Amino acid sequence: MFFKDVIVKIHNGLHTRIAAMVVNKASEIKGRYNVDLYISRKNSKSPLAISMLALVSLKIQENETITVSSKSSDPLSQIAVNELCDFISKDLVSNNSSMNKIDAIIEESTIANEQIIDNVPIGIIVIDSNSYITSVNNYALKLIDKTSREVMGKFVRDIIPNSDLPNIISSREKQFGKIQHINNHITMVNRSPIFLGEKIIGAIGVFQDVSEIVGMKELNEKFKKILASSHDLICFVDEYGKVSYVNPAYEKNLKVHGNEVTGKDIFELSPKGLRVKVFQSKEKIENRVQHKNGIDIISTVEPIFIDDEFKGVISTSKTVDDIKDLLSKLEKSEEELNYYKEELIKHTRLNSSFKDIIGSSSSLRDALTICEKASKSTSTVLIRGESGTGKELVAKAIHNNSPRKNNPFVRVNCAAIPENLLESELFGYEKGAFTGALKSKPGKFAIANGGTIFLDEIGDMPISMQVKLLRVLQEREFESLGGLSPQNIDVRVIAATNRNLEEMIEDKSFREDLYYRLNVISINLPPLRNRKEDIGLLVEYFIDKLNKKLNKTIIGVDKECLLLLQEYPWPGNIRELENIIERAINLSDSSIITPKDLPSFLNNNNISLKGSLINTHNGELLPFEEYEKEIIKLAMEKYKSYNQAGKALGLTHRTISLKCKKYNI
Ligand SMILES: Nc1ncnc2c1ncn2[C@@H]1O[C@H](COP(=O)(O)OP(=O)(O)OP(=O)(O)O)[C@@H](O)[C@H]1O
Ligand SMILES: [Mg+2]
Repeated sequence: MFFKDVIVKIHNGLHTRIAAMVVNKASEIKGRYNVDLYISRKNSKSPLAISMLALVSLKIQENETITVSSKSSDPLSQIAVNELCDFISKDLVSNNSSMNKIDAIIEESTIANEQIIDNVPIGIIVIDSNSYITSVNNYALKLIDKTSREVMGKFVRDIIPNSDLPNIISSREKQFGKIQHINNHITMVNRSPIFLGEKIIGAIGVFQDVSEIVGMKELNEKFKKILASSHDLICFVDEYGKVSYVNPAYEKNLKVHGNEVTGKDIFELSPKGLRVKVFQSKEKIENRVQHKNGIDIISTVEPIFIDDEFKGVISTSKTVDDIKDLLSKLEKSEEELNYYKEELIKHTRLNSSFKDIIGSSSSLRDALTICEKASKSTSTVLIRGESGTGKELVAKAIHNNSPRKNNPFVRVNCAAIPENLLESELFGYEKGAFTGALKSKPGKFAIANGGTIFLDEIGDMPISMQVKLLRVLQEREFESLGGLSPQNIDVRVIAATNRNLEEMIEDKSFREDLYYRLNVISINLPPLRNRKEDIGLLVEYFIDKLNKKLNKTIIGVDKECLLLLQEYPWPGNIRELENIIERAINLSDSSIITPKDLPSFLNNNNISLKGSLINTHNGELLPFEEYEKEIIKLAMEKYKSYNQAGKALGLTHRTISLKCKKYNI
């Protein structure tokens, strides 16, 4: 290399005409010595091949120093360099002044042209026949994010790696409407060779940023945001095998800067990589583990086709660390899920036996809370409540919810068994214990061993039996009739009654000591009239249950009907409600139960609606027996049996049968 500095002493610097003269001189010198000459600003590291455009673009001002150079430093090159320097410092200066007017005209038109080119909203890049950039406008500079100084005179592919302009020079053919990715912009490019006669002196690329087109821009922005915020490592490769985009996660995890890879050829970046494989095979590769730049990643690479035309490949990867992280999060949430599942199972199991006990009133809920606790213990339970309030239902639920649920639940109706049979019923007898005892028979206590015995209607147990029961409860053993030795038992006792045991103790018809033995856990079931808010729920529940049983499709009761049901005092409680609903379902000829489907005592503008049980005539009160007679008559009409009528009225079947005789019912 040989070079020489020369000060430009020309008024207005190296302007267009002067540049033309320098170019002309340089080509004349080349013709003579066959030496290519280069020019640059002093101290600039990149000398430009001397061309019109290169010189003008340097915008060398008056008194600036430029360097003229040649590649070689042989004598001919030295002569060539010196000759051009002399030309610039002497010949040009001496004939300069006469040309001032012409220069002004040329300058004006050049500046005007430059202004035009700089202000059109399209990018323009011009290269010379050696593919060096000779001209580039503002729009293009913005797009490639460079200054004029950084690009002028540079090999075009050093600036835009995927530029196709050099191919235009070799193919001599124009290209229209090609899509090119430049710096995350999508551009549409026209490329054209520049001819001087037959000779190609360069090529021009004109491009527009189509990612700016309205709508497309918005979409593009959203798309970019998605890519930018993704945790996956994403890389696009265009149809020429050049990386056109990598997202921030890619940059961060693989520790590369986007600028270092975009525009680069994947065949050079990683010739054995998955992207190259897919680029060549056009077949998707899924979930392949790779070790790259010091980290393990799992990648999926697939080809992109648009309208059946191959458009490149896209690779998405996750770091193995990310996946491990996800896995541990997943494991954690699975653990949590299992915990909640177990809790749910516990919860539903806990309530499964109680779920058929309908009602949300606080009085019922309070009772049920005690039931749940009772089911966890083996203590004796005494259930109190009017007839039909669900004493038996609750007793069964306590058993079914207790650890004994797989052992027997044995119900003994103390009111229904004749006094003389009750003992053998409870405790059994041995063969030959009495005349007619041909076989031995186990008693209810023995049958219930390991489980629960439910002593229903305990208030109706004869006093003689109460003693024996007390002994069983105290000793946890009993003797069967004719048995030789006492038998040990493990039986949980639940007793129930609708009788007022405290009054009976006063009357001496119930043993106080037995009362205390039984009343360890006490459960009081509220009468339905005290929890009217449950009526709606119960009606729904029974309609549902009875629809299935009766194969009907009743959907509900109307408003008026519900009001009547809520007004009624329900002496027979839930059992009575269930019966009335069953009757109504049978009677109803539509899908909704209306007041006409209810019994008349509920329906007529009757006693209960006035809030009083007794319909006094003109305020006159009758002797008590008159009312007793009427109520027993009503009960018998309704229930048709002493037992049922007794239950409804809270009396024993014996009392009812006695009263019926008395009143001739
Ligand atoms: N809360 C409730 N939810 C649903 N059904 C109930 C409820 N309470 C009671 N029942 C139903 O009402 C009817 C009467 O209940 P149960 O036989 O348990 O009452 P009881 O108190 O034992 O009556 P009695 O003193 O007359 O023997 C049963 O069919 C029962 O299923
Ligand atoms: Mg009962």
